[in-house]
Amino acid sequence: MSEPAVFLNAFAHALAVMTLYPGAHPSRESAVDDAYQELTDLARISPRPSFTFFDEEVVYGREPLRELKAWPWGRRLSAAGIQRLEFERDVSRDEFDQFLQEVLARLTLSSIDTSEQRQTQSLGIRFGAVGLHGQADVPDTPLAIATLNVTLDDEAETLRWLQHEVQSRGTVPLLEAETVVRSLAVAMHRDSHVVLPLLQLKEFDQYTTMHSLNVAVLAMGMAEALGCSPAEVRTFGVAGLLHDIGKIRIPLEVLTKPGKLSDEERRIMNQHPVDAARIIMESEEELELAAVVAYEHHIMLDGGGYPAVHYARECTLASRMVHVCDVFDALSTTRPYREAWPQGKVLSYLDERAGKEFDPELVTAFNQIMRAGAAQVRVLSEERTTT
Ligand SMILES: [Fe+2]
Ligand SMILES: [Fe+2]
Repeated sequence: MSEPAVFLNAFAHALAVMTLYPGAHPSRESAVDDAYQELTDLARISPRPSFTFFDEEVVYGREPLRELKAWPWGRRLSAAGIQRLEFERDVSRDEFDQFLQEVLARLTLSSIDTSEQRQTQSLGIRFGAVGLHGQADVPDTPLAIATLNVTLDDEAETLRWLQHEVQSRGTVPLLEAETVVRSLAVAMHRDSHVVLPLLQLKEFDQYTTMHSLNVAVLAMGMAEALGCSPAEVRTFGVAGLLHDIGKIRIPLEVLTKPGKLSDEERRIMNQHPVDAARIIMESEEELELAAVVAYEHHIMLDGGGYPAVHYARECTLASRMVHVCDVFDALSTTRPYREAWPQGKVLSYLDERAGKEFDPELVTAFNQIMRAGAAQVRVLSEERTTT
């Protein structure tokens, strides 16, 4: 087999293995190592390899690769909007790994408008729709935010499916949770700077889905700003995504009740952190941090909140972060019993309660992200209103 075909097979194999083993599993690492080695070998022969994927054909540079005729992965990549793949310079193993994750997110959830190119300039790898090549001489032009057409429909749908799975089976599908988070990470990094794509709610019964996606995005944005590694950022993202999963046990009438809750309804509502922690712990050992965060996300710095703690203790960093993001998003959203607060008012509220309810350092960090990057936070178009 020719060197480009060997590389593409190793590349496809790595993507397949990554789907099976999302964490730092040895099989995943060795598949990525192999693909990276093949890329290095290929780059020795041809310094800037480029590929085009059509339904029936794979083209290397300008030459069709006969041995990959009707290659299923070519079809898959092309259908996910990755018709073109260019390596512009030598990439590091880490950059290659990150690139594979982005491709995987795009393959799994076609969250990205396929008419638009994806440019991972820092990586020296570009991929996207055909026509990307014609743009090659303007690689530094950032994509205008206004033209971004992120809806996160697929993520919302996957999360709804996940919530449904938890409801019917009682366990959390880890792979899908991680896939949603990877896809959110891609959406955050579509531009030359980080954009936190937040959703706005119209249908109250969709609240938990929208809110969970927003808390995941905010927690990831915060973790990134605090200098966490990409793997940590994703772990925090999964924790944000699942923090309210216990709410699947709360009847919709209680969740969307416009007035004050009765004592019994309040008791049911306040049960969700414990329920979530239980559900998550029973699902996956790997989700331990998410279980802790679900349990702790309503516990205040001074020990108030719920579940009741007998003495004030420091919750884990991820819980303290999710707590801030959770309250920020909840107050920024219109609820059956109150209108959404403007961002300034929400940030002042966080400030006022810093040191009592919230970790003051995290409130400062959150404020900095929001105030410095307020323009980068976009409320995205409404997602579908079906339930
Ligand atoms: Fe909650
Ligand atoms: Fe929440």
